[in-house]
Amino acid sequence: MATTKTGGLAGVTAGQTELCTVGKEGAGLTYRGYDIYDLADNASFEEVAYLLLYGRLPNQAELDAYIAKLISLRGLPKSLRTVLELIPGDAHPMDVLRTGVSFLGNVAPERDFDAQNDVADKLVACLPSMLLYWYRFHTDGDRIDTKTEDDSVAGHFLSMLHDETPGELQRKCLDTTLILYAEHEFNASTFTGRVITATLSDMHSAIAGAIGALRGPLHGGANEAAMELIERFDSAEAATKGIHEMLEKKELIMGFGHRVYTTSDPRNSVNKRMSKQLADLVGDTVLYPVSEAIEKVMWDEKKLFANADFYAATVYHFLGIPTKLFTPIFVCSRVTGWAAHVMEQRAHNKLIRPAADYTGPGLQDWLPIDQR
Ligand code: COA
Repeated sequence: MATTKTGGLAGVTAGQTELCTVGKEGAGLTYRGYDIYDLADNASFEEVAYLLLYGRLPNQAELDAYIAKLISLRGLPKSLRTVLELIPGDAHPMDVLRTGVSFLGNVAPERDFDAQNDVADKLVACLPSMLLYWYRFHTDGDRIDTKTEDDSVAGHFLSMLHDETPGELQRKCLDTTLILYAEHEFNASTFTGRVITATLSDMHSAIAGAIGALRGPLHGGANEAAMELIERFDSAEAATKGIHEMLEKKELIMGFGHRVYTTSDPRNSVNKRMSKQLADLVGDTVLYPVSEAIEKVMWDEKKLFANADFYAATVYHFLGIPTKLFTPIFVCSRVTGWAAHVMEQRAHNKLIRPAADYTGPGLQDWLPIDQR
């Protein structure tokens, strides 16, 4: 039975949104009224990005124009490429993106909120470029051309990473995870972005702040932590034993549980199906069975379910994506939801400034420094 959570603003309504419902009865997750399963099965990430950022699904001409616009915005200013080369190769790529977005705010600042859609589109188009330019430079010494002609963000990402056009299944799987990650109501990173926006700050500050919030393992960082957990075990039996031991020691199992969902995360079944498809494709006989074993123990022992991050981990792994790029992929997707929230906050703005219950000492007498 679901328990009532307290603390951490659990259950507190902190504003209104037209963008998304999370865990409402009969509609596990919807973006602007569209069920996530319809979007995952039928839409492309670009259609979902347009839906979130422009308020409705595009027709064919609008979608074609939007894709062409995103392709045209994939390039990085030379000074940003220099910054990416100066960031150490062993930096965490989430820090790279945080810095990259912040730097872009210096060389291409948002001067006018009327141009907010262009700022958002630039970020959607060039976040994968930033990430892969930095990654390839420091991994292979290559200064890659980020202006690929691939007509999807997913294909753009994979072709910059692997230097070849991805297979259709691989492109589709990455595209689907981008759809699933795009928006999620007042989660920690989105709320961070809205708090920053509410001061009438700029889009780059809001997105850089949101990236900082997403980085932590209790939020977006969970997909990397889940992969590290899954890779610890060489068989389903070892995973079953290992997770029991971890639970006995009251350790947190990454990729399980959720603040809002109580019995399942609707995104999980889609990720799990893709993970199985890709496991079969690459001939995996360990990681998928290990994942299923972990999922079973967590449900049997704790009634905790896999969240979106758990099977996303093996989806990315089977796509040949290094683990440290997992959470940055989340950024490349969620930037659409964040930017849509920035615009929504601006449209009905009120400074966000809650109150706190004071728990410190009562009024104290001032003591000169030699009497303390
Ligand atoms: N592994 C083990 N126990 C877990 C757990 C997990 N992944 N998630 C929750 N629990 C336990 C908590 O320890 C707590 O037990 P207690 O009541 O005995 O103290 C209980 O379940 C309730 O969890 P709580 O931490 O109060 O829930 P929350 O809403 O504050 O936290 C998360 C939600 C997502 C932060 C939490 O489930 C978590 O840390 N999960 C792992 C990280 C993760 O996957 N994050 C991505 C979220 S999409």
